[in-house]
Amino acid sequence: MKRLGVNIDHIATIRNARGEKHPDPFLASKFVTKHGADSVTIHLREDRRHINDKDAKNICNQKNILVNLEISMNSEIVKKALKIMPNFICIVPENRKEVTTEGGLNIKKNRNKLRNIIKKFKSKNIRTSLFIDANIEDIYLSKDLDVDCIEIHTGKLANLIKANKKYYQEFLRIKKCSNLANQLGIEVHAGHGLDYKITKLLCKIKEIQEFNIGHFIIGESVFDGLSKVIKKFKNIIKK
Ligand code: PXP
Repeated sequence: MKRLGVNIDHIATIRNARGEKHPDPFLASKFVTKHGADSVTIHLREDRRHINDKDAKNICNQKNILVNLEISMNSEIVKKALKIMPNFICIVPENRKEVTTEGGLNIKKNRNKLRNIIKKFKSKNIRTSLFIDANIEDIYLSKDLDVDCIEIHTGKLANLIKANKKYYQEFLRIKKCSNLANQLGIEVHAGHGLDYKITKLLCKIKEIQEFNIGHFIIGESVFDGLSKVIKKFKNIIKK
């Protein structure tokens, strides 16, 4: 059964716009779980533009909620994450000027650093994932790093589909990478830029076991309500 991780960073973005307490990401983590999210994703960015240390700590301290903490390779953030002890870690590239995570990790360049970080989290029994672009070399490199999961960055596919451009080659690339990762014993996740239509398409790839979705869920909730949007995604991924 495919799983849905709901990224609640944008709840913190709305809260921070006023510098007050509402809407509270901690309550949001409870709410999305109650309404069908299999896990909650938060990204503790180096610039703390949305989720802050207190949010991360409080959200991860809940026993009955599975939390996927996205972090960069920054050593201070890695230290914090090891203290916070989330259920899952997803290592992502981070660039101060980007609006969102624009692409996957450069695994080749950061191989030694990543190996070290992955070892630290795995020794604490924290499921560890790498956010990567859909390319075969990165799948082999991920295997060499002994990571539990990869999350394939679906932004390129999403952009092509949203611009009504040809997307089949990119879809095939994601499918081949998912297939290879699965054969090598790595669990496959997908995320970035996903809406109902793109998620439905990616559900054709049986190896993808988890989707992590944020911006569309929070944006669409303005019109439809958070619980209804989560329910619609769950209906799409369970088919
Ligand atoms: N997965 C990862 C690793 C991410 O960094 C993000 C957000 O950048 C997402 C999923 C969710 O992407 P979106 O907000 O576009 O759904």
